[in-house]
Amino acid sequence: MRMYDIIEQKRNGGVLTDDQIDFFVNGYVAGSIPDYQASALLMAIFYEGMNAGETARLTMDMARSGDMVDLSAIRGVKVDKHSTGGVGDKTTLVIAPLVASLGVPVAKMSGRGLGHTGGTLDKLESIPGLSVDVDMERFFRIVNEVGCAVIGQTGNLVPADKKLYALRDVTATVDSLPLIASSIMSKKIASGADAILLDVKCGSGAFMKTSEDAVALAQCMVDLGEEVGRTTVALITDMGRPLGRAIGNSLEVMEACDVLKGTASEDLTETCVELAANMLFLAGVGSLEKCRKTARTQISNGQGFQKLHEMVAAQGGDARVLDDYALFAQPACSREVRSVDGGWVFAMDTGRCGIASVALGAGRATKEDAIDPAAGIVLAAKTGARIAPGDLMATLYANSEERLDEAERILRGVYDIRDEQPEPVPHFFARV
Ligand code: URA
Repeated sequence: MRMYDIIEQKRNGGVLTDDQIDFFVNGYVAGSIPDYQASALLMAIFYEGMNAGETARLTMDMARSGDMVDLSAIRGVKVDKHSTGGVGDKTTLVIAPLVASLGVPVAKMSGRGLGHTGGTLDKLESIPGLSVDVDMERFFRIVNEVGCAVIGQTGNLVPADKKLYALRDVTATVDSLPLIASSIMSKKIASGADAILLDVKCGSGAFMKTSEDAVALAQCMVDLGEEVGRTTVALITDMGRPLGRAIGNSLEVMEACDVLKGTASEDLTETCVELAANMLFLAGVGSLEKCRKTARTQISNGQGFQKLHEMVAAQGGDARVLDDYALFAQPACSREVRSVDGGWVFAMDTGRCGIASVALGAGRATKEDAIDPAAGIVLAAKTGARIAPGDLMATLYANSEERLDEAERILRGVYDIRDEQPEPVPHFFARV
């Protein structure tokens, strides 16, 4: 078999056979297929797409390219959750302890941030002492004793995705439906959970800009999960504005604590409750309506917050920061950004908010970049807010005035301010 023929077949709009897909994935992981031929095939897939059978084969080949995690040492129905990537998305920090506080185990392997989207591991590591490099034995022990743990992926989980994602990132082939679906689902399938909840983001800060595209991606991933016997549900949620008010690592941990203490904004709380309720539903706790009520109760009775304390302590973190935010590393400087114009915040370029947070030091432009845990943005005004000239729009935190200058310049392009009031946008668009 020759890689040339596989590229040509896809370029001409053909359907690849199972053997051809196996040849590509195995050869690329083994190093016998060079980057230039893999790039050409990715670009052909970007333009010509893949049918359901091809996408399923690609997903399973990728899942089996490394370790397949066996979670049977953990008691109970294991439900995993995955977000397609957003700005200010700290929901895992809320829902893992919330769900675990009801006896449903959450054994979660998360990723780091790249580009304009943040990563859960970077957020957790802003807690002094907390380790996400936990071996499997300790991971299982923490989940069995505490109920939840969030750790980094093991060294050999889906190596095909590590190589392919890095190549897609530099060849403008990330935003392809079959490539996103196979990338996400291969990792979820290899991670071993019994059921999977997908949070598919939609809007200016997401890969999928329209709800139609987001539903198509969700449906493809749900079909892939069901095909391999994992109950899978997807929620399409809004990323036309950042989630909550905080963007940046320790700032997002603080906001996640506020949700669990019952003091956060309603949009973020509602999103977390809906995701937690769907995880509880998948674990068989009861009807969705009952699960929503139960999730809210775990916030008001403080048990979700207590569980976060336990998880942080079990992973070696200083849980005192959760009650006393002054114990987090503090930023060297800050700046208030005030509005020049008056009117309504009609829309926001959410991706640009993420880029501003990277300029502050809260994210990475390349994999090697270091993260400043204290850097980030707290938004005072979001879509739908009525503002007057001089009103506070956002507060920026960084370790230098130069970073604040650059981020302020970027952030000023985020807001579309008009005389017209925007229609309210729901936080949820669909459930697949
Ligand atoms: N997240 C992933 O893990 N993979 C993609 O391709 C896109 C988002």
